[in-house]
Amino acid sequence: MKLFVLGATGRTGMEIVDLALARGHQVTAFVRSPRELRPSASLTIVRGDPRRREMISAALPGHDAVLSAIGAPPRDALRPNTLLTDCARATVDAMTSSGIARLTIVSAAVLFPEEGLFFAFFRWLLKHHARDLRAMENIVQASGLEWTIARPPRLRKSPDATFRALHNALPPGSRVMSFRSVAAFMLDAVEHRSHVTEVVGLAQ
Ligand SMILES: NC(=O)c1ccc[n+]([C@@H]2O[C@H](COP(=O)([O-])OP(=O)(O)OC[C@H]3O[C@@H](n4cnc5c(N)ncnc54)[C@H](OP(=O)(O)O)[C@@H]3O)[C@@H](O)[C@H]2O)c1
Repeated sequence: MKLFVLGATGRTGMEIVDLALARGHQVTAFVRSPRELRPSASLTIVRGDPRRREMISAALPGHDAVLSAIGAPPRDALRPNTLLTDCARATVDAMTSSGIARLTIVSAAVLFPEEGLFFAFFRWLLKHHARDLRAMENIVQASGLEWTIARPPRLRKSPDATFRALHNALPPGSRVMSFRSVAAFMLDAVEHRSHVTEVVGLAQ
């Protein structure tokens, strides 16, 4: 498939690119810092700002799907921020005008109404980030596209690409998983056209 990756220089995004190339896909990485990525024959690197729909639109034609793993830096995630909302609006507009329907996008488990002190603490700590994530999800869900929203828990670096996925709920015991597992879920969803118009909770 010809895949368009947003946030490709991030920890999840790099795993998406790596795994997509390993599975034989053609990948376009739309990034603001091209030097962060290692060139490869099946990888096209396009420099651009993911908040600007015209820049996405210019690079998007000919792709089968968009995978988005944009995330605010930690200092921005702890204060009011609209990065994810702005990028989602630009992405959805560009996809709609380019006639590309399939979108998988990373959100976060903090949006699930889990009970207990652990989840209450993270909901409080990440309240600004959660507001941005919620607004991003609302734009995606109202888009009319064939979207899948992945909500993973805290992520860590590990070669483990296994995952459990549940429609609209967090799989039991989900506290941490690998960036690579999120990438594997997103690629599987695109390749098999699974979880279309679903919010999906993830766990290792
Ligand atoms: N990390 C976790 O534990 C965790 C847990 C649950 C959910 N998530 C969600 O997963 C998503 C990805 O997380 P991650 O940890 O993989 O992110 P990350 O490593 O921080 O990477 C973020 C990506 O977004 C890009 N980006 C950030 N600010 C930008 C801006 N102003 N303009 C353009 N691009 C910008 C970065 O580009 P540059 O390289 O150019 O900065 C990078 O490609 C986030 O939405 C987050 O909410 C993360």
